[in-house]
Amino acid sequence: MDRDQLDVDLIAAALAASSLWQDLIYRQSVGSTNDVAKELASGGAPEGTAVVAEEQTAGRGRLARRWVAPPGTSLLCSILFRPTLRPTQAHRLTMLCSMAAADAIGQLTSLAVHLKWPNDLIVDSRGSEPGPQRWHKLAGILTEAELARDNLDFVIVGIGINVNVPHEELVDLAPGATSVSAEAGHEVDRSALLVGLLKRVENRYGRLQRGENPHQEWSERLATLGREVRVRTAERSLLGVAEGVDADGALLLRTEDGSLERLLAADVTLAAG
Ligand code: BTN
Repeated sequence: MDRDQLDVDLIAAALAASSLWQDLIYRQSVGSTNDVAKELASGGAPEGTAVVAEEQTAGRGRLARRWVAPPGTSLLCSILFRPTLRPTQAHRLTMLCSMAAADAIGQLTSLAVHLKWPNDLIVDSRGSEPGPQRWHKLAGILTEAELARDNLDFVIVGIGINVNVPHEELVDLAPGATSVSAEAGHEVDRSALLVGLLKRVENRYGRLQRGENPHQEWSERLATLGREVRVRTAERSLLGVAEGVDADGALLLRTEDGSLERLLAADVTLAAG
């Protein structure tokens, strides 16, 4: 099927006044945009380099999973940051990028986009219908940091948004995945969405550089908090109440035996969905 390509000229023009987005790299097909961005970063590319592709042949998700997106349907974008943060604070970049992505989708659709710990964007597919919530995933973020001695050398935030993936192709994605078009009932201009995303990231990153911590707003927007959840790590599966997230973005889970577990990497399923 022929699909619209991203309009690179329009995107470049919309970001021309930006001081962050100096280098937007657009490719038809790559292995993983995160890998391209990492290679550029290792070669000294500046902060604000963004790599965008129509297709990934080896897209990666968290926990060594694959990230599948039909060519020309999605936003596959990796952003290079060189922040003055401690390594344990790198999750702040994930926080600000997930909020920027949720807001960018929200501006072009009437969808209420929620965040799910640690870095998913989800919607309640029941819409305004009564009944139990049915959470589906619209987007995911893969953040990878590189250290130089004990400091952050660079951080790559890879954002994958299922934008115009039609209903019939959702089965090729991960279980529970949905797309913006499937939920909103109309296709969305991917170029406009990318511009909206990058402008919001720039704004939020500026605030971070001025000392603002995105943690409070991010934690307030997590659909996961205060709920009974099932948490799976590589080693174990835990049931409990997601009580909060600490300053480094770790999930604080009150388990059935009353103890408080601190989890940095895991999968969370909401008990009601
Ligand atoms: C997840 O939900 O597990 C994270 C998915 C992240 C996917 C994006 S798509 C752009 C970038 N390149 C990759 O290979 N992965 C991220």
